[in-house]
Amino acid sequence: MSMEPTSPSSPPSPTTPTPRGVRLGEPIPEELLDDAERMPREELRDLQLTRLRATLRHAYDNVELYRGKFDEAGVAPGDCRALEDLARFPFTTKADLRDTYPFGMFAVPMDRVRRIHASSGTTGRPTVVGYTENDLAMWADVVARSIRAAGGCPGHKVHISYGYGLFTGGLGAHYGAERAGCTVIPASGGMTARQVRIIQDFRPEIIMVTPSYMLTLLDEFERQGIDPRSTSLRVGIFGAEPWTEEMRREIEERTDIHAVDIYGLSEVIGPGVSAECVETKDGLHIWEDHFYPEVVDPLSDDVLPDGESGELVLTSLTKEALPVIRYRTRDLTRLLPGTARPAFRRMEKITGRSDDMIILRGVNVFPGQIEEIVLRTPGAAPHFQLRLTRRGRTDHMTVRVECRPGATPEQREAAATAIAAGVKDGVGVTVEVAIVDPETLERSVGKIRRVQDLRQA
Ligand code: DLL
Repeated sequence: MSMEPTSPSSPPSPTTPTPRGVRLGEPIPEELLDDAERMPREELRDLQLTRLRATLRHAYDNVELYRGKFDEAGVAPGDCRALEDLARFPFTTKADLRDTYPFGMFAVPMDRVRRIHASSGTTGRPTVVGYTENDLAMWADVVARSIRAAGGCPGHKVHISYGYGLFTGGLGAHYGAERAGCTVIPASGGMTARQVRIIQDFRPEIIMVTPSYMLTLLDEFERQGIDPRSTSLRVGIFGAEPWTEEMRREIEERTDIHAVDIYGLSEVIGPGVSAECVETKDGLHIWEDHFYPEVVDPLSDDVLPDGESGELVLTSLTKEALPVIRYRTRDLTRLLPGTARPAFRRMEKITGRSDDMIILRGVNVFPGQIEEIVLRTPGAAPHFQLRLTRRGRTDHMTVRVECRPGATPEQREAAATAIAAGVKDGVGVTVEVAIVDPETLERSVGKIRRVQDLRQA
């Protein structure tokens, strides 16, 4: 069964009927939801407690690091009698994984580990993660659920441009899309001109890619003289890096697709910890039958009530090879009640990572704040970089932004003034703005690096 061809004069509507009669952009039929998605919240909480207690016991019995940490904190797995008791248990950090590199936190013998992934990070040893057969099945289930939340179902073709390899993005998305009954196009990252060709020829309805690489793809479509609104794509499932509502608008307007968010991290599983539902686009439902969320004050470490912003802390509830107890993600968000999937709480779109925060002359600046300002400035393209330098004793930030193709000198000047004023008003700090020519800043092929720190040089 194939999609109806669309003529350039009538751009495809996101609600064009797709295989099996499902309209992308509308809620998927109830019968496609799984049991946990339909569970009453109270029943889900009972399930969480049972699984949490088993996970604490499994971690304590099989991982030396957890046994040591629990003993030191004076807590035992049996002390967890209610979900709130988890707050008495110690946190786990990336440093714990690095210190036990490569396999020291695995809780099963190696012959039960079916796959290994690793995340390189910016410094030091990579963190290594492992999966049993059951872990891989659960991972495929939560990614499949995320794809369904985006409106994907059997019969859709999914083009995957997350990198394949040790990074969890490509293979994580891949097996989830297969589990969802979709047809997978495993494009991986890079070779941008070829990706455009494949999308034109194979006509996928769904793309899974980082939002920054999506922008690279859109530029390539335009460079080849193809209107990105004329493609077969109806939905983009974007994650692996922070992105703003302004970025959503930019992508949706240029492509006529629904842009939804997917979140995850290798230490906890990979993509598919939480995902946005296409019908509400109001934050990401956390698949709480497998991952228990808390939000803590990053300074006092106290657990915050739902609705308050802080650092997301995650505990796995069903993982075998690498159970994680109260993992400090460094990602900043808040917890909100469920909407499209009432059993599960939502997390607000990530506003940034505590490690990405730039302290500029005493003012906290997140790249996302600058993204919002750049993307709403006429004449500025959505490509920017933050360059930090030191002059004498003071730090300076230059926002380097590409202008839109064809921008006049006056429009460039106006864009620079508007961005500098926007940052001064919105963030409260003075920055320099350099408007550069189109196609001069480095393009993303995966996760984008926004900050160039030249202060030590
Ligand atoms: O980036 C897993 C992933 C792949 C998620 C594909 C979604 C799609 P890591 O390489 O371990 O894993 O990086 C995890 O990336 O702690 C966040 O800081 C950031 N991140 C991931 N998804 C989002 C998102 C994958 N939707 C780190 N919004 C996380 C904001 C995100 N940040």
